[in-house]
Amino acid sequence: MQNFDYQTPTRLIFGEGVVAQLPEVMSQFGKKILLTYGGGSIKKIGLYDKVKELLADYEIFELSGIQPNPKYDPSVLEGVRICKENDIDVILAVGGGSVLDCSKAIATGAKYDGDPWDLITYKAAATDAVPIVDIITLAATGSEYDPGGVISRTETNDKIGYVDPHNYPRVSFLDPTYTFTVSKKQTAAGCADAMNHIIEQYFCADSTLLNDGFMEAGLKSLMINAVKCLENPEDYTARAEMMLTCTYGCNGIYALGSSYSGWPCHGIEHALSAYYDITHGEGLAIITPRWMKHILSDKTVDRFVKYGVNVFGIDENQDKFDIANQAIKATYRFFESINIPMHLRDVGIDDSRIGEMAHHIAVNEGLEEAWAPLLESDLVEILTASL
Ligand code: NZQ
Ligand code: ZN
Repeated sequence: MQNFDYQTPTRLIFGEGVVAQLPEVMSQFGKKILLTYGGGSIKKIGLYDKVKELLADYEIFELSGIQPNPKYDPSVLEGVRICKENDIDVILAVGGGSVLDCSKAIATGAKYDGDPWDLITYKAAATDAVPIVDIITLAATGSEYDPGGVISRTETNDKIGYVDPHNYPRVSFLDPTYTFTVSKKQTAAGCADAMNHIIEQYFCADSTLLNDGFMEAGLKSLMINAVKCLENPEDYTARAEMMLTCTYGCNGIYALGSSYSGWPCHGIEHALSAYYDITHGEGLAIITPRWMKHILSDKTVDRFVKYGVNVFGIDENQDKFDIANQAIKATYRFFESINIPMHLRDVGIDDSRIGEMAHHIAVNEGLEEAWAPLLESDLVEILTASL
């Protein structure tokens, strides 16, 4: 078991109707709020009006139009400008992971004199941030409970995931009823994203029985509840469990004491989204089984056996590699069963930029240090197999 140093400062307020506590929660931060949101889903579901009504006593500035795979320019830059010009006390992010990630970059950028990109690329360390509160409306990223953010810069094909303790939201409101309207496509993609967060932490050199059990249960919970959410989008119990399982995803709690895996599928997917602006969870679902197949070896096979037996109930009295291959197939089939497009060409990606993307990943993601190391040639093979 590895040493660790763990603290989560985020307060989670979970359940139907909890947003009623918003005025009281916001009162500790000040009167000037920057309300951030995306392309309009929060207006369609009535949450925008609800927030405005609850916060009638506050001075509210707005940044709307934050896109999926949130963009540095204009969204982060515009948010930083609004915060600096108006001396904003607190950011209220209402929406999916993209809105929250963008708000995290704004929060530290607003307290930094230089180019906020320096903070995202670790050229400079943040020393302060505007506090962030969020109402998360999509179960997927776990951004509501973690210090990470992922920001895209279109002109350089960069999509950078970075971690900064200032990025922890102070308070996250999780009301599963706000996820009832999430489309089937985004529900399935959210499930695949959260499953991959667990898989990235499960496949490593050193884990514990406790972590393995927690993660295996997390994977089963996601698969069972995603199917229920797709069948009945207003199934409160399924949406609620899905939401909480997603929330744990990138917080580190699944892997306390485990060794680091390198998060290879995320390293690869970030390039796909950076070059082609695809949906993160779909990219992960496509890459995951191909990555699994590629790294299956004498060194890794025992983890696949445990995964196959405990998550998919595969008979353990078989050849190890047979079990591993069945587990990989079961992973693929599950994603396919929830209607995720399972080939890169299905999401508009052909072979024309595979070499370029593999090079970009090899230079930027450090995957030669992963549990199952990936060189540029491995990345070309995985991407080609995913076509
Ligand atoms: O923009 P609006 O109109 O709000 O619509 C959004 C968007 O089109 C819609 N949506 C959100 N809540 C809804 C809803 N539609 C109906 N009803 C609702 N209640 O869903 C679409 C996708 O939203 P987005 O925020 O992009 O999805 P998600 O939460 O999956 O976030 C994806 C982003 O998070 C990053 C990904 O790379 C990607 O950029 N990630 C962040 C992580 C983190 N901070 O820890 C970890 C993840 O691995 C991931 O990389
Ligand atoms: Zn992810």
